[in-house]
Amino acid sequence: MNIFDGIAKYGVVPVIAIEDANDALALSDVLIDAGLPVAEITLRTGDAVNAISEIVKHRPQMLVGAGTVLNEEHLSLVHTAGAAFAMSPGIDAATLSAAQKLGLPFAPGVMTPSDVQTALRSSCDIVKFFPATAAGGIPMLKSLAEPFRHTGLKFNPTGGITLDTMSDWLTYEPVQAIGGSWIANSQDISKGNWDLIGERAKAARKMAEKTVGCNSRP
Ligand code: 3PG
Repeated sequence: MNIFDGIAKYGVVPVIAIEDANDALALSDVLIDAGLPVAEITLRTGDAVNAISEIVKHRPQMLVGAGTVLNEEHLSLVHTAGAAFAMSPGIDAATLSAAQKLGLPFAPGVMTPSDVQTALRSSCDIVKFFPATAAGGIPMLKSLAEPFRHTGLKFNPTGGITLDTMSDWLTYEPVQAIGGSWIANSQDISKGNWDLIGERAKAARKMAEKTVGCNSRP
């Protein structure tokens, strides 16, 4: 099973901006207890790489990857920290090639057919569809994905997705999992609102299971 199939099992990926790596283990414990031991830690904060490293070292049951990976240097940092995967909001040739050289599972961001073709040329089998809601939502994703359906390419939509809308996305077969920051936002992490984060994670996991029976996914 590849890493992204592992993510598909959960159907939903908490997208996280964490300000202080000291919060990383408490956050992981809440996600593990909620049955959602997966996280995309975005490189939007100064401590993101340290947070990834802490989780990798101390919570091996977490499937932790890096988000907002913008260049070769970011890739190298998160690879050294032990990230299991990396994602970008957009796509560029240098970052694609660096991810391949490192052997790091990588999902670039796409929003146009040309982006998708660039991803396919680099043999990506999963791409992020970002910003999913603002770019036109599910009708846009369907229009974008259908011409490529025969390639087997899978999509990870993120951007504006919530507990209320996630099942609409998940029922479209090319969607491998959705991502969202609503489960664990940076304010709640900083304030240590672990119960609230745990409730949101449980609700998201439950919704994904109800929608597509995520346990039976590959
Ligand atoms: C991402 O990086 O994937 C998005 O910022 C998540 O979007 P959201 O904050 O609207 O959930």
